[in-house]
Amino acid sequence: MSPEKLQPDRPTIIITDDRRTSRHMIRNILEPEGYKLLEAENGKEALELCQTHQPDLLLMDIVMPVMDGLEACKLLKKKNNENFIPVLMFTAFDDGSEAEKSFQAGASDFINKPINPDELRHRVKRLLYLKNLEKNRREAEKELQTRHDKIQFLSRKVLSAYEEERVRLARELHDEVGMSLTTLKLNLQLLSNELVKCCFQDKEKLDGIVESVSELQGAIRNKAYFLRPPALNDFGLLAVIDNMVVELSKHTGIQGKLETTGSPEIIPVEIETALYRCIQEALTNAARHANADNVSVKIDFTSDKVIVNVTDDGTGFDPHVENSANKHLGLQGMQERVDLLNGSLEINSSPGQGTNIQVIIPLV
Ligand SMILES: Nc1ncnc2c1ncn2[C@@H]1O[C@H](COP(=O)(O)OP(=O)(O)O)[C@@H](O)[C@H]1O
Ligand SMILES: [Mg+2]
Repeated sequence: MSPEKLQPDRPTIIITDDRRTSRHMIRNILEPEGYKLLEAENGKEALELCQTHQPDLLLMDIVMPVMDGLEACKLLKKKNNENFIPVLMFTAFDDGSEAEKSFQAGASDFINKPINPDELRHRVKRLLYLKNLEKNRREAEKELQTRHDKIQFLSRKVLSAYEEERVRLARELHDEVGMSLTTLKLNLQLLSNELVKCCFQDKEKLDGIVESVSELQGAIRNKAYFLRPPALNDFGLLAVIDNMVVELSKHTGIQGKLETTGSPEIIPVEIETALYRCIQEALTNAARHANADNVSVKIDFTSDKVIVNVTDDGTGFDPHVENSANKHLGLQGMQERVDLLNGSLEINSSPGQGTNIQVIIPLV
């Protein structure tokens, strides 16, 4: 078995110099360290070896025929962005500017010729260590990206399952519970009409019950509406939000207004749902926590994004304090929805100053 196969992990280094004596001198210094050494006569050859051997380090003279070291270094950094290969440049013709030029070309280190063996050994060790660190960093970054993508994928699934579940619940409430209540109410009304002939007092009691059933019907219709915006598909986002603002004013006494600019193109359903949920949460918060007199919803459609501002003149709060408490899921849910669509959420609020929630979602 060849010694290379016995030590598969030993680092590969390319020595690039147009002078054979220089290459041999460097080989003699580094060989005892157990590196796998390859040789190239100019920058072009070195780049070809980089393609075929994926080295861990490139040692490169600056002045060479065919392709000099600086040009080769620049090309390597341009082409080989995926795989970090540190470059150690050296030259015998330094007028004081070669180090600067080398670093500008993308080299990681520079030494002057004649090469001091100890210095070369130390620099090579340090650069290989750097290469290893960079390799680990890139692997960790890739792993992080993969996990991030997985979490995003799962979050999307959770959100769509959540929406589907709400649709199912809303439908059941509307169709099954709603229908049963309607039948119950009709039967009670029939009974009440019968009772008018004989027992007037019982009829009054029954009418009270019919009234309660009506209220229950209204409450269930309301719950079903907020579980799922039934009109989103039929009337579009603006009509549904307009209705939401009107309902808010009716039930809370807060003065609500909706303003829009630009015309909404066809908006993808997941963006529409996210906007709906964010505005719903912001309005619910204004009603529940802000003790506000006025709340405004402003929606601006531009060619490439939707900007939503929900502003109230209520008590305000400290977003840093409230966001850190994990028990509140409304603002957190907004953030998650917005993140999934590569948008941004800004919460501008402080005690006594009212609250402005801004959501921006890109459309392209
Ligand atoms: N518009 C607002 N005005 C005043 N306080 C608010 C407003 N919006 C949110 N908050 C504060 O931030 C907290 C977190 O809100 P949120 O995440 O929606 O959770 P929840 O509404 O379930 O409490 C609220 O409990 C409230 O203290
Ligand atoms: Mg809330």
